[in-house]
Order: sequence, then C-alpha cells, then structure tokens
Amino acid sequence: MTPDEKKQQVAKAALEYVEPDMIIGIGTGSTANHFIDALAAIKHTIEGTVASSQASADRLKSHHIPVLDLNGVREIDIYFDGADEATKYLHLVKGGGGALTREKIVAAVSKKFVCVADDSKLVDVLGAFPLPIEVIPMARSYVAREVVKLGGKPIWRENFVTDNGNHILDVHNLNIAEPVKLEQQLNQIAGVVTNGLFAQRPADILMLGTDSGIQIIE
Ligand code: 5RP
Repeated sequence: MTPDEKKQQVAKAALEYVEPDMIIGIGTGSTANHFIDALAAIKHTIEGTVASSQASADRLKSHHIPVLDLNGVREIDIYFDGADEATKYLHLVKGGGGALTREKIVAAVSKKFVCVADDSKLVDVLGAFPLPIEVIPMARSYVAREVVKLGGKPIWRENFVTDNGNHILDVHNLNIAEPVKLEQQLNQIAGVVTNGLFAQRPADILMLGTDSGIQIIE
C-alpha cells in the first residue's frame, strides 16, 4: 500500500469512534482530509464539527457538514487529526501543514484525541521531522536566535502565513528526548505563539495504517 492508501484506510477505520450527536474536532492535512471525506457518509448522525484550519473548514462545508465556532462550544467530544511524527508514548510532532496553533487549541478542548497516521510516522525519538514553531512576525529573528541557543537550526518557512497571520520557523537538528520539557521551554520564548510538540496534551489513541491492517496504540 502507498502511504496515501494507508492514510485513507486508517481515516475510514477511525469512524468507529464516532457516536451519535457528537461534536467532532477536525485536524488538518491529507489524513484529516480523508477523515472528512469518510465522515461525509455519516454527517447526519453528528451534531457538528470544529475545524482546526480554514482549509479543513472549507472541505467540511463542501460536504455540507456543519462547522461550529469554538466560542459557542463548551467541549469537543473527540478530535481526529494526523501527525508528522508520533511515539509509542503518544507524543507528537505536528504542524507540517502550519495549523499547529489551532490544532493545539482543538486538542485542549477535546475529551479524546485520536491521532490517525500511516505507519511511517511512528518513530522512537521525535525530532527527525523539523519542529514547526508559530511566531509573531516581528519576533521571528529573536525567536530564531533563542532556538539556536537550545541547539536547533531554525529555517523560516518563507512565503507562508498561518491562518492567524503569523510566521513559521521549522527547527532542524533537535533530538527531542524530553518532549514535555522542550514544549514548555519553547513556549516561554517571547514571540512564540506555540510549537508543534503535542506532549503536555498528547494523543489518547494512535491509529496507524499498515500493510497488515490497523495498529492501535493507547
Ligand atoms: C498539519 C498537521 C498534520 O497533521 C501533519 O502535517 C500530517 O499531515 P498529513 O496527514 O498530510 O501527513 O499537523 O498542521
């Protein structure tokens, strides 16, 4: 199977966690897109969705799936999203698509977070995939210098602006042995909106599409 076929397979399988009248958090990226397409088949059974990006909101609306404003929602029942890297401890690196901040907000408000990915995303140690950091534009160079002090090599994702009007630094060369600690450290730098480590609020369930079916880690 190709990676995309595995993403489609796992996205469809994740529907088993959807129950009647749920409010569902929706991630961003190709795996989330497969999930949205699969969800369309049962859209009449759910109450609505909260999208983590404009792109996902647009795709949901194209299927006539209701998209709710998070400010009108007290709690999201369950959140489905992909990842760029995941460990067996359910710590993730996210933000390859640049939607990390809204994804982190949706994850925070959700009772359960189901991460769906193809099996190439499972790693022993996070950090081979460059860690995205969303920064306030005027702080970009300052944050980059601070990240260098922590051993990272930040690269500005040029010609990209997030849904929140900010910039992204992709940080190479990090060996993330202590994800919770690094997530906190990076978020304390002035000008950082958030970083793509999902360790303080990890996934609750990791579903991986593999050649031999779905692997579940929880
Ligand atoms: C977007 C993300 C995505 O979940 C991540 O980049 C994985 O994407 P894909 O499902 O296309 O492999 O964090 O900001």
